[in-house]
Amino acid sequence: MTKTMATSSIKTIPIIAIPNFAICHKLELLKEEGERRDLKRQEGGDEEGLSYEFREMLDSLPKERGWRTRYLYLFQGFWCQSKEIQAIISFQKHFQPLQNDVVIATIPKSGTTWLKALTFTLLNRYRFDPVSSTNTDHPLLTSNPHDLVPFFEYKLYANGGVPDLSGLASPRTFATHIPFGSLKGSIEKPGVKVVYLCRNPFDTFISSWHYINSIKSESVSPVSLDEGFDLYCRGVIGFGPFWEHMLGYWRESLKRPEKVLFLRYEDLKEDIESNLKRLASFLGVPFTDEEERKGVVKAISDLCSFKNLKKLEVNKSSKSIKNFENRHLFRKGEVSDWVNYLSPSQAERLLALVDDKLGGTGLTFRYS
Ligand code: A3P
Repeated sequence: MTKTMATSSIKTIPIIAIPNFAICHKLELLKEEGERRDLKRQEGGDEEGLSYEFREMLDSLPKERGWRTRYLYLFQGFWCQSKEIQAIISFQKHFQPLQNDVVIATIPKSGTTWLKALTFTLLNRYRFDPVSSTNTDHPLLTSNPHDLVPFFEYKLYANGGVPDLSGLASPRTFATHIPFGSLKGSIEKPGVKVVYLCRNPFDTFISSWHYINSIKSESVSPVSLDEGFDLYCRGVIGFGPFWEHMLGYWRESLKRPEKVLFLRYEDLKEDIESNLKRLASFLGVPFTDEEERKGVVKAISDLCSFKNLKKLEVNKSSKSIKNFENRHLFRKGEVSDWVNYLSPSQAERLLALVDDKLGGTGLTFRYS
């Protein structure tokens, strides 16, 4: 009897267990689906269009609280949002470099918009004269720089798409936040040039914190300054850690100065004209004496200045990157605004971190 009971109870376990397991599994799946829907709501649709396989891959990556989306994932050694990873994979698979391509690279909030404006105006100065005061049809007057120089990851390869680049005029000019280690395989062709703009980490952090809190969807809770600062110091920021991003391009610029030009935001603020000349020479289109006499260098600097760009209607009222308003791209445009935000102990922590990570590399900053 005991034996029969035992046998029958053994038998019943799987009979009951199978449907229970199936129900539990189904409930688990429904819960996951619900969580995904919540996530999608929180991310303002950032999870839309991701395949099951891609989500599985995401689930296998280390993740941390995101700034603008629910999570940042550690992908190829840097922190990134899900949609950016999707675009980067497509870019790495499909992008074919051409000999004269120019790639502008930055970590976000280092002055990307400014460098795009300068590079576009410089390279297209024979088509669009920056000097003529009657020139009201210069593209920069009616288009945001992000529409003139597209990002690989936000525009061209967004949603994992494959763009048709055949109609682009030479030199094709692109932009990216991808760290050098993940970019290099896609740009290894003689003649492809990279311009990196670096900004001191103190101002970059404050600029990022302001920007992200201005553009994030209301359903994502704001990142407090203290929380954001801690994430930043731990390297958890889009395309960070910031020190690795900067060092990747810095080292390459030392190794191959003909391939990578390393510029600093603070230097551009201090002396835009000589940096513009450096940029022109690096890109193989130096200013002639006659151009200098005619005031072309100054005209480009003025056209691309913070004051000028900020006041243009297109930069006050339109949207260029994803669905974010252009006006948030032009905040203060100053060096050392961080002193208005960071406490002495925060400043000390960041300085020690910069010292630890960048000390001895030759990469130094001006903070004021
Ligand atoms: P602040 O937030 O400190 O004002 P990015 O273009 O990489 O998003 O960087 C944005 C930062 O560059 C912002 O810094 C913004 O104000 C500043 N900026 C935008 N256009 C500029 C320009 N023409 N000259 C100088 N700074 C500019």
